[in-house]
Amino acid sequence: MIIYKYDISGVTEADLDPFFEGWPEKPTLSKRLEILKNSDYVIIALDDENIAGFINAVTDKTLSAYIPLLEVIPKYRKQGIGTELVKRMLDHLKDYYMVDLCCDENLEGFYKKLGMEKVTGMIKRNYDRI
Ligand SMILES: CC(C)(COP(=O)(O)OP(=O)(O)OC[C@H]1O[C@@H](n2cnc3c(N)ncnc32)[C@H](O)[C@@H]1OP(=O)(O)O)[C@@H](O)C(=O)NCCC(=O)NCCS
Repeated sequence: MIIYKYDISGVTEADLDPFFEGWPEKPTLSKRLEILKNSDYVIIALDDENIAGFINAVTDKTLSAYIPLLEVIPKYRKQGIGTELVKRMLDHLKDYYMVDLCCDENLEGFYKKLGMEKVTGMIKRNYDRI
């Protein structure tokens, strides 16, 4: 059974090894843990001891929140875990005026079903800073 946890106590660098799938350059394991530690909010989907997926958010603690990362590892996909993580995070962030994220076109439907809307966005990536 999947349970959802709102803190990262007990999470180790090794637990984060299966994540960042498909990234051309992946953050080191220690950076992955640092990312979660430094996020304002993290929700983890746990299957016993194993992390099946997670979502994080960073905020200005007043008006704006941004969801940088959402990932469910392949063996746990298509079971509703990604949907549940987003739903729970959006609920957690419901007092913020703006809650933004960027996604590939193929995920527009996924986020629309969760009440989000498509906008035009601009991004900058410093690829040597991963
Ligand atoms: C995107 C991602 C988080 C979705 O996670 P997930 O746990 O598979 O999500 P869900 O199971 O809630 O739903 C995914 C889709 O599968 C469908 N689905 C859910 N259960 C299903 C099942 N049993 N059989 C078939 N399809 C199913 C859902 O309807 C949904 O379809 P939709 O995209 O048309 O809405 C996951 O694919 C992932 O980690 N991808 C790589 C990282 C990534 O792209 N992250 C997003 C960054 S913006």
